[in-house]
Amino acid sequence: MTAKLIKGTEIREQILEEITAEVAQIKEKHGVVPGLVTILVGENPASVSYVTLKIKTAHRVGFKEIQDNQPEDISEDQLLALIDKYNKDDSIHGILVQLPLPKHIDEKKVINAIDPDKDVDGFHPVNVGRLMIGGDEVKFPPCTPAGIQEMIVRSGVETSGAEVVVVGRSNIVGKPIANMMLQKGPGANSTVTVVHTRTRDIAYHCKRADILIVAAGVPGLVKPEWIKPGSCVIDVGVNRVGEKISEKTGKKVAILRGDVDFEAAKEIAGYITPVPGGVGPMTITMLMKNTLKSLKFKLGID
Ligand code: GUN
Repeated sequence: MTAKLIKGTEIREQILEEITAEVAQIKEKHGVVPGLVTILVGENPASVSYVTLKIKTAHRVGFKEIQDNQPEDISEDQLLALIDKYNKDDSIHGILVQLPLPKHIDEKKVINAIDPDKDVDGFHPVNVGRLMIGGDEVKFPPCTPAGIQEMIVRSGVETSGAEVVVVGRSNIVGKPIANMMLQKGPGANSTVTVVHTRTRDIAYHCKRADILIVAAGVPGLVKPEWIKPGSCVIDVGVNRVGEKISEKTGKKVAILRGDVDFEAAKEIAGYITPVPGGVGPMTITMLMKNTLKSLKFKLGID
């Protein structure tokens, strides 16, 4: 059997079109558009490219967007003051501070300084708590887990009663997606197991999974014999395993590999996400969705 590919690139287009239409409607009715600011400290090439894409996407869907680039040597106090400025700015509904930050800045302090009602990354402890409570309490689910859940739902995979196994326990992916899948409600109601580096027998758990979500950061960790036939496999891994010359641009580009042995796994799974082009494009898409939600919360509309 060959698995059905869950393409993040296609789902992204559907969602961005939905967001664009909603932004236009809100603009006409309320005379306001969502405002997103990205704060980038320094010039880490990966961060620069992420932020550039975030701002480009925000522009595409009709948001007001500000790319606020700051020098590597900005002090912690200056950065906190900048966040405070955007917390007070009524035209800004989403504030994103690109991580990682330089070593002289305390990341926790910075995240805690963002108004939780503008924390479209969903990293502030208040939003982590809201996610844990679930239901109407949730404002901003973190973007990568939200993208994963959206992909599963839009592919028509049944989550209610499903055995979900999450590989990895990071704060950004593993812990929040496990939490989201066990909540009462549509796209969830699953029985969830989280496995990690200290788990005695990872393969044993993976083999039981109706939905296997892998966010370990280890290329090719999940072997084909760990996959339950017909299951849904979500590969969150984006591992740079080398470089090649792009046929399109003639420039050096990274060779990316997921956490799952894709070529073999696709012959066993029922659904699978490719790398690249799977979960990756969903993260920025869900950032747009959270920013739109932030404005809607403010306007009191659904
Ligand atoms: N760095 C890598 N991914 C992310 C993300 O999703 N949000 C922020 N703020 N920084 C990141």
